[in-house]
Amino acid sequence: MEKKTSLKWALCITIIFVFMTVVWMNHKQYFSSSPYVREEIIKDYHEIPKYSKQKSITPIKNSKHLMVSAFKDHRINGRTRIISILNRDQLQPLFCIFQCGKNNDVTPAEIDMHSDHFGFRYVTTDVLCKNVPNCNATHVTLSLKPDMLYNLTDFLPIQNQIQEEEAFPYEFTICISNLFGSYNNVLQFVQTMEVYKLLGIQRVVIYNTSCGPDLEKVLHYYSEEGILEIVEWPIDQFLIPSRGWNFKEHGGDMHYYGQLTTLNECIYRNMYRSKYVLLNDIDEIIMPYQHANLHLLLEDLQHKHPDVGIFIIENHIFPKTQFDNSGRFNRTEWKKVPGINILEHVYREPDRKNVFNPTKILANPRQVVQTSVHSVLKNYGQTFRVPPDVCRIVHVRVPLQGSLAKEQLFVDKKLWEFEKPLLPNVDNVLNKSGILN
Ligand SMILES: *[C@@H]1O[C@H](CO)[C@@H](O)[C@H](O)[C@H]1NC(C)=O
Ligand SMILES: *[C@@H]1O[C@H](CO)[C@@H](O)[C@H](O)[C@H]1NC(C)=O
Ligand SMILES: *[C@@H]1O[C@H](CO)[C@@H](O)[C@H](O)[C@H]1NC(C)=O
Ligand SMILES: *[C@@H]1O[C@H](CO)[C@@H](O)[C@H](O)[C@H]1NC(C)=O
Ligand SMILES: *[C@@H]1O[C@H](CO)[C@@H](O)[C@H](O)[C@H]1NC(C)=O
Repeated sequence: MEKKTSLKWALCITIIFVFMTVVWMNHKQYFSSSPYVREEIIKDYHEIPKYSKQKSITPIKNSKHLMVSAFKDHRINGRTRIISILNRDQLQPLFCIFQCGKNNDVTPAEIDMHSDHFGFRYVTTDVLCKNVPNCNATHVTLSLKPDMLYNLTDFLPIQNQIQEEEAFPYEFTICISNLFGSYNNVLQFVQTMEVYKLLGIQRVVIYNTSCGPDLEKVLHYYSEEGILEIVEWPIDQFLIPSRGWNFKEHGGDMHYYGQLTTLNECIYRNMYRSKYVLLNDIDEIIMPYQHANLHLLLEDLQHKHPDVGIFIIENHIFPKTQFDNSGRFNRTEWKKVPGINILEHVYREPDRKNVFNPTKILANPRQVVQTSVHSVLKNYGQTFRVPPDVCRIVHVRVPLQGSLAKEQLFVDKKLWEFEKPLLPNVDNVLNKSGILN
């Protein structure tokens, strides 16, 4: 009796063991700790789509034109604006194809080419679509004909669906257009980013075509940290981008790797995300000279000029060829870091007679319609040129007036005021991003 029971138990356990082994063999991947395998399981069994990055450049079918992004523009009755890059030699009527539920609806497109093409064949263009009545479209695409067939991948999502009036996630966002070549100016970039933070910048958007190996590390660090948004910008896969601003001089299909397109894209991308956007280059700092930070500066400026939405800031050159004599910031810690140490360059070029200082833009994006690099092309509200003693751009670079001796330049140690928090913050980033190791 006892023997029979234990035999039954043994049989039972054996059957369970065999069963478990079969399950294990067939579903080995369920028990694995590899994240790759786990993702596969989720994909197979729960049909959660794999994360896919939004494409930033989409060709318009059967044409030489390109689309970039689509935005609902609440200032023009919610019409859809598609930031595009059109070939001026092949202009032709375009149609907007909207996805309305399960149907596609077509409206004619209006083409509004930006005026600043500098002789290049390709030009930033707003394509404006009339809306389809009774359709809350989520996606749109452009077409040469009103009746073509499309794949889902040809459509752009329509962004800015909801108009936000006051509560923006960020107060200040910087748009840095077009990183290209093997730009590897790490020390200047990290110092500049850390000054931005101390000035109250919460977000930086960079359009990346390519960059150098050390800068790559730092970009990853900042995007992990959360302040930096990197938008992939593979313009060189579609056009021959120019490294210059003028077709006659520099050749190519398009001005500076499409800088004008990315600046405009950035305005619309941040329309309801940021109270203000700053359109400056990677080596420029829009610096308040009488206020402790940008918040206090803008509070003051808007109080005095309530109807202004576009603030124009003068650019001033600090030649990288002139060093501070004291050697105060000639630190051994930074010797091996590639790039310019901006704290060593405290000499500022004077204004030139009969030459306007170039400018950059600080704007309320909801008042911008089309922007260029140094001024806006179309806007609502008013524009104000900020006096340079209130705010100017600190721009450490090759001199514009290279013949001037030190004695002919102004001493400007504004950056030194940030020394205390700046040095440990920069060291920390260089350490954590793996530049110092
Ligand atoms: C479109 O969206 C608005 C607001 O969400 C809603 O009131 C309206 O009924 C929608 N219209 C259609 C046709 O779905
Ligand atoms: C959709 O995409 C597939 C695969 O890329 C392609 O073969 C097909 O021609 C496309 N259809 C249309 C209507 O463009
Ligand atoms: C920038 O773009 C290049 C070329 O596509 C790519 O190799 C690189 O990883 C990108 N860098 C970042 C930080 O996204
Ligand atoms: C910085 O210090 C090094 C010595 O550590 C010296 O060789 C170099 O000339 C200094 N640079 C400047 C600009 O003073
Ligand atoms: C950077 O790292 C090195 C070694 O890992 C360390 O000695 C140094 O104190 C660190 N510096 C900062 C500012 O964290």
